[in-house]
Amino acid sequence: MSENKVLVEVNNLKKHFPKGKDLRGRDKSVLKAVDGVSFQIRQGETFGLVGESGSGKSTVGRCLLRLYDYTDGEVFYDGKPLGKLGEKGLKPFRRQIQSIFQDPYSSLNPSLNVLELISEPMRIHGLYRGEERKEAVAELLEKVGLKREHLYRFPHEFSGGQRQRISIARALSVRPEFVVCDEPISALDVSVQAQVVNMLEDLQAEFGLTYLFIAHDLSMVRHISDRIGVMYGGRLVEVAESDELYDNPLHPYTKALLSSILETDPLKASQRIQLETYAAGRGSEEAAVLREVSPGHYVAGDYGN
Ligand SMILES: Nc1ncnc2c1ncn2[C@@H]1O[C@H](COP(=O)(O)OP(=O)(O)OP(=O)(O)O)[C@@H](O)[C@H]1O
Ligand SMILES: [Mg+2]
Repeated sequence: MSENKVLVEVNNLKKHFPKGKDLRGRDKSVLKAVDGVSFQIRQGETFGLVGESGSGKSTVGRCLLRLYDYTDGEVFYDGKPLGKLGEKGLKPFRRQIQSIFQDPYSSLNPSLNVLELISEPMRIHGLYRGEERKEAVAELLEKVGLKREHLYRFPHEFSGGQRQRISIARALSVRPEFVVCDEPISALDVSVQAQVVNMLEDLQAEFGLTYLFIAHDLSMVRHISDRIGVMYGGRLVEVAESDELYDNPLHPYTKALLSSILETDPLKASQRIQLETYAAGRGSEEAAVLREVSPGHYVAGDYGN
């Protein structure tokens, strides 16, 4: 993997949202949802993004998809900067970069049947025609564990897991290279989560996909990711290979995040103090800089010495 080319490069990305206006109509202050994030994803790799609610994970994903303009920094896709492109310039990237979101209920138009849902992106991007398109959709359906008979059914006729399979088929219908998976299994029953994750892995191998995998569930993200970035307050505080991150977490926030999944093991007092100290100083620029403390293991601040 480490010899594959860098497909996605995020360079000091910032996305600030205005919080409101003062009486003269000027922006009062900004919410720094993403505040200087840098990382790279190599072709064929799965990069996991974890962190508590509101830490900025989805905002990073939405910037990569160019659903948002960003405040500062740049995203390079296969070496090309996306930031200043208009819709026309973005068109090829709108095919190459696809997304799968958490909620398979709201993301599928209820008035379209499966054939229409999955072939819509194909039509937009001019892939296949007529019977060929229908055949391609039927094949994709089988790849995501559904059946040809499902072509003329509507979203409400499926379970949550099946709807997410339809969303996945839709995302893959235009043969993307890179897929932003934003909590793709969080809304599903625990019993089907593993099936969907395994399927995403199989599809990745078959189609040579690269994933950004945003997740709350730390055991699942460890399983699927090659490397993981930990976000806290709009910044990355640690990046490492999955096993290294779990076996040897260095940043107090990563430690806290990992210990909180062991439910029975409440956050240790010393960790909490470290975290509070960190939180107090996290606005500083030094705190935002990631240092490589061992090969491929990066941490913010002066932790890990
Ligand atoms: N469109 C928006 N307008 C204003 N503020 C926003 C917008 N989108 C996100 N935010 C704010 O930016 C911050 C980061 O949100 P984001 O959705 O990226 O977090 P997240 O890590 O994905 O959280 P979760 O785990 O709950 O999905 C939050 O404070 C959120 O309220
Ligand atoms: Mg989110």
